[in-house]
Amino acid sequence: MINAPVLFGVGGYVPDAVLDNEALSRIVETSDEWITTRTGIRERRILAPGSGGACMAAVAARRAIEDAGIPPESITHILYATCTPDAMCPPTSCTLADKLGLSGVFTADVNVACSGYIYGLTLTRGLLAAEPEATVLLVAADVMSSRVNWQDRSTCVLFGDAAGAAVFRAGGKGKGILKDALVSSNGALGPLLHVGGGGSATEFKPGDVIGPEFFIRMEGREVYKHAVRCMVKCSRDILERNGLGIEDVDLFIPHQANLRIIEAVGSKLGFPAEKVFCNVQIRGNTSAASIPLAFYEAREAGLIRPGMTVLFATFGGGFTWGSALLQL
Ligand code: ACO
Repeated sequence: MINAPVLFGVGGYVPDAVLDNEALSRIVETSDEWITTRTGIRERRILAPGSGGACMAAVAARRAIEDAGIPPESITHILYATCTPDAMCPPTSCTLADKLGLSGVFTADVNVACSGYIYGLTLTRGLLAAEPEATVLLVAADVMSSRVNWQDRSTCVLFGDAAGAAVFRAGGKGKGILKDALVSSNGALGPLLHVGGGGSATEFKPGDVIGPEFFIRMEGREVYKHAVRCMVKCSRDILERNGLGIEDVDLFIPHQANLRIIEAVGSKLGFPAEKVFCNVQIRGNTSAASIPLAFYEAREAGLIRPGMTVLFATFGGGFTWGSALLQL
């Protein structure tokens, strides 16, 4: 039995620039009515092109470190969840460490698409079990605007840019305890949500035209079905193995993919609407950042209180999925 990681601080960040459905309908053939009916999304935040996600991650990380009340130099490990790294090399976790003025720390990128934060929580448990003196900074940031095809209306309306962060230690008096985390995957379904171009399985050379294969391609209906099924199952599984029922959960924070997925998962699990947190309407799907940003914004809104049990559930490319339980 490992000691449960203690949560010391959280942070989040969204860029200032708002892209609402009205403005989107001037880029592709779509409408506010179609987007809100199908997804619930009204607007999303977009990072200035070419900025790189590490600049968002650095703000979220500094907020989490400040919230933790610790000196930045006490961070020993940085896990950076993203599927939109600043570059193929160096790892963006290294870039982030440098932006934070840290060197000599453990840095690793975690690429499991939207599930990055929950996988990161699982890795945090392992790191703190192996190195109880460590202080782990877990950051999740995605610049989805850099990898959507702005000519593909079936995908570009869904995503936004953001970062979220958390600081964990193996003990001490923090703000909550990561009770459990559970993750899974099925690589056979990978082609249903795919960005091939830029990887080593796609041949390209200087001067080639950047084609649609360099951007997100998705079988929306298939993703929808699997997302609902997997998030429901992993939520039930983690509650069962912790001897908890739905009634024991005070707040459910699912991956903010779209409102219809969130509502379907919430209702299949039996949550009343007021226990299901949503910010997808104003953030869009921010991939790995979605859950830590939602938690940060729920806390900023005064919805997180001592003694609460919070359930997270995620789903993303891979396919990957997972759940986690936070005891405040
Ligand atoms: N505006 C207007 N019309 C559109 C748009 C748009 N933005 N996008 C598609 N359409 C059209 C299609 O062309 C199609 O027209 P047709 O009937 O003339 O061929 C019609 O709308 C229906 O298209 P569908 O793709 O069948 O629409 P659907 O009802 O399945 O909704 C959606 C699409 C919203 C993407 C849905 O499948 C979905 O929510 N899927 C989940 C995908 C998701 O959330 N992925 C996120 C990444 S993974 C993750 O984070 C979990």
